[in-house]
Amino acid sequence: RTVYLNGAWLAEADAHVSIFDRGFLFADAIYEVTGVVNGKLLEYEGHSARLQRSMGELGLVCPLSPEELLGVHREIVQRNALSEGLIYLQISRGPADRDFAFPANPVPTLVLFTQAKAVLDNPKARTGISVALLPDLRWARCDIKTVQLLYPSMAKMEAARQGADDAWLVEEGFVTEASSASAHIITSDGVLVTRPLSQAILHGITRHSVLDLATTIGVAVEERPFSVEEAKTAAEAFITSATNFVLPVTQIDGQLIGDGQPGPLTLRLRELYIERKIA
Ligand code: PDD
Repeated sequence: RTVYLNGAWLAEADAHVSIFDRGFLFADAIYEVTGVVNGKLLEYEGHSARLQRSMGELGLVCPLSPEELLGVHREIVQRNALSEGLIYLQISRGPADRDFAFPANPVPTLVLFTQAKAVLDNPKARTGISVALLPDLRWARCDIKTVQLLYPSMAKMEAARQGADDAWLVEEGFVTEASSASAHIITSDGVLVTRPLSQAILHGITRHSVLDLATTIGVAVEERPFSVEEAKTAAEAFITSATNFVLPVTQIDGQLIGDGQPGPLTLRLRELYIERKIA
């Protein structure tokens, strides 16, 4: 792969970052993941806006303007002849002698790389995924997309140990989100219920679009916290993210959701999302 590092295009084996990088020592870095299908960037405006917001919250300054960043996104797709997959972008506060306080004159590290992956034809879209419920032990600013991803990784491993595909995280009896996706349910009355935006969850770009699409087809949307009990007895459940789009959840903590098959409204939202945002 050809990767981008601080203004240079390099073979991945030649791209090196300092051991003193604050991303490495303090997880002092933020990231974005943008889906790519047929060489086209998906929902770029949303990812760009969230990137700016994450940087603002942490006082990180990107060396490139939003327009220049878009150019780098387009160029990395071309240089890697990427048809389908994702672009990963990370900005850290850069290298500085180890100190908890931020350096006075940071030199940020900006990295982009691609991952080729079949995202459109996902076999899990036909079967659905199973999730295990685990306590949400992350920090209290999950709205900032930091690379502090140890707990989500641990949750994913614990879910796998329990035989599940992913974890849904729970805070005080209510579901926050999945380990790396937004979590949603559909009630027996056909209402889409999803946790409202706050500092407890990432403000998902796919979530936003799917809520809009649901409204346009007449589905009632309620943004409110939903409990573990509601989730387990929901008619349908699904996750959304940049590379999963809309993916059915058919089992929660061993309990089948509905008849254990992907829900009809979930599949309709997946189709609609693909039709409107990708095709
Ligand atoms: N994850 N919630 C969390 C905790 C996430 O990490 C993500 C995305 C989402 C979905 O956001 P979006 O729809 O904007 O992708 C929700 C990315 C894909 C990742 O970490 O790889």
